[in-house]
Amino acid sequence: MHLVDTAHLTSLLSPKSSHTASQGVLKISHPLKDISLPRVDFNSLIAEQRDKARALTRRHIPPLSLKHRLASALEGPWAPDARDLPARHEPVGAGAKVSFRDEPGSQESIHRRRMLKDSICRSERVWPLSHWTSVYEYQVMLDRLPLPLHGLTILHLSDIHFLKSVDRPWKEMSRVADFLEKGDQRIDLILLSGDVITKTPEDLCAHSLRQLKRLSEICPQAFMVHGNHDYHGHLPAIISKQLEEVGFHDINNHHIRLTIGGAPLNIFGVDDAYFGNPTPPSAVSSDETNIVLTHNLDAIRGDFPKEVDLILSGHTHWGEIKLLDGVRFMGWWGYADNLNRHTKHWDMLTDRTRSYVHPGLARYYVPFRGLRHPPGVAIHTLVAR
Ligand SMILES: [Fe+2]
Ligand SMILES: [Fe+2]
Repeated sequence: MHLVDTAHLTSLLSPKSSHTASQGVLKISHPLKDISLPRVDFNSLIAEQRDKARALTRRHIPPLSLKHRLASALEGPWAPDARDLPARHEPVGAGAKVSFRDEPGSQESIHRRRMLKDSICRSERVWPLSHWTSVYEYQVMLDRLPLPLHGLTILHLSDIHFLKSVDRPWKEMSRVADFLEKGDQRIDLILLSGDVITKTPEDLCAHSLRQLKRLSEICPQAFMVHGNHDYHGHLPAIISKQLEEVGFHDINNHHIRLTIGGAPLNIFGVDDAYFGNPTPPSAVSSDETNIVLTHNLDAIRGDFPKEVDLILSGHTHWGEIKLLDGVRFMGWWGYADNLNRHTKHWDMLTDRTRSYVHPGLARYYVPFRGLRHPPGVAIHTLVAR
C-alpha cells in the first residue's frame, strides 16, 4: 500500500474550507479545483497488459464451468465471454482467520446490530430518479469523527457496468448527474468502488465518459478502485487511464490522506478480491478517520486493520439473499465468498467499523438482482455523534 503525499493538498484545502451551520448540521465547502497525485505511467502499463493478453490463447484459458454458461444464458449481453474472463487467483489470506466476523447470535453480534440501528438506519432517505435508478441518502454517525469532518458528503458510485451497444447505463448515469447539477446537494468527495465496465474496455464509450466527467466537474475529488469486471479483457490500466482523463483517480492499493480544517481523513483503496491484488493498509492510525474503498467485501480478510471507520464496497448489486443460515442465493453462483455478510447493506463489522455494500447502478437481466431495491447511487453524510 503506497501513501500518496498530498501535503500540498492539505495546504490548499484547509484555508479554503469554510463552515456554515445550517439546521444543526455543520456544512463544509472546499472549492478545490486542482488535485495533483503521483502520475502512473498508464501507457507502459497498458503495453505490458496488452502483451500479456496477446500471449493468452484459448488453450491457456480454462473453459467456462456449467454455472458460468448458465449465467451467460441468463445474463445475455452482460455476460463476459471466455476469452475476456481472467483466471481467478487464490483469495489473499484465504487460510487466515477472518477478523471481521463474529458468530451469528453471539453477544458481539447483537451488540453491533443495536449500534448499527442506532447510528444509521433512521436517517435513510430514497430519491427515485427513474424506474431504474434511485439515490439513497444516509447520515453515517461515526464515534470519533472530528468536528471539521462533520457534514462531509460522499457520493458513492459502484457497479455502473457500462456496456458497448447498451445505452441504459450511461443514460441512468446522466440522470444522476442531472440530479446533482440541478439540486442543492453538495458533494465533497466521490468514491467509485469498481465494475465500471462489463466485458471489455470498449464499453467505456464517449457518452459514458462524458457522464463521469460531469460528476468530477461537480466534485473534483473523485477516486476509484477496480472491480472484477474491470479486469475482463485483461486491460484494467486502460480503464484507469480513461477515468483519469475524466477526473477519477485510480487509488488501487494506494492511501490518500486529506486534511480538512486541520482534521486528517485517510482513504485506503483496496484492489479487487478476485482478479486484483488486494493489499491491506500497512499503517492505520486509530486516532484519525479512516475510510476503505474496495469493490468486494471479500477483500477484507485475515489481519486487516480494525481501526477503520467506514468500508464502502459493491459487487453483489444487493442481489445476494440469505435463505437459511449458510445458504445464499448468490453463493452457488460464485460471486461472493460472503466472508463479511454481504447480505446486508449496512453492517457493523467491528465496534468501530461500519460497512456499506452498494446496490450498483446496473440492473442486470437476472431477476434477483435489484429485486429488493432499485439500483442507484448512494450519498453518505458523515455525522459526529
Ligand atoms: Fe458488478
Ligand atoms: Fe463485481
